[in-house]
Amino acid sequence: MKVIAISGGSKNGSNDSMAKEALMGAAEQGAEIEFIHLLDLNLKPCTGCIACVKSLMSGGNGDCVIKDDFKWIEEKILDADGVIFAMPIFEKGAPGIFRLLQDRLCGPAHDTGINIIAGKIAAQMGKPGPDPRKLKKKAVSYISIGGSDWNTSASCDMKLSAMSGMWTVIDDEVFPWAKSIIVQDENVAIKEHADVRESEKGKLEA
Ligand SMILES: Cc1cc2nc3c(=O)[nH]c(=O)nc-3n(C[C@H](O)[C@H](O)[C@H](O)COP(=O)(O)O)c2cc1C
Repeated sequence: MKVIAISGGSKNGSNDSMAKEALMGAAEQGAEIEFIHLLDLNLKPCTGCIACVKSLMSGGNGDCVIKDDFKWIEEKILDADGVIFAMPIFEKGAPGIFRLLQDRLCGPAHDTGINIIAGKIAAQMGKPGPDPRKLKKKAVSYISIGGSDWNTSASCDMKLSAMSGMWTVIDDEVFPWAKSIIVQDENVAIKEHADVRESEKGKLEA
């Protein structure tokens, strides 16, 4: 079981700390873990060229044509069984860096339906087609950390990213007034949604 955590916060800030705290929990359960600090990567925005979709519809693998670090992080995410996203709340919602990653990672080229069809097209053409890991079951967990209680769209912004890949959301926590979260014991050890985790675990095992 591989679990990775992706933090969109500042270096060693609240989001990094919570992401690492969550990873330590996963490691205690026996998971292989990895931490990724998103702002260390060179990620360019999606240009909407749809080269990925054209590739998929003609038997290709749907890889993005932009040359940057996306392929590296995509590989980590495709490989993982679980992904923890820890993001600062900016302007009442998910930060730009998360939206940028989401456009590249959750757009049409990573949509479950499109990849099922693309697989069939590729099979008919005798080509390898899309990476089969795009259809792998994945559990995701969202952590949003704010410095005030302005967080109207944080949970919605984060959770929508689970849609196209049909990821199973096992946690979605929004922490208001949490700039010093790592010393807020009640937040670090949050037990809410344990019931959701249990029922979703059953679905993943099925
Ligand atoms: C541009 C900007 C916008 C922000 N907007 C909000 C906001 O709307 N609501 C909120 O609760 N906190 C807001 N904050 C505070 C951040 O959420 C907080 O600084 C962040 O969680 C710190 O994370 P880090 O320590 O991991 O860098 C904002 C901070 C910045 C820099």
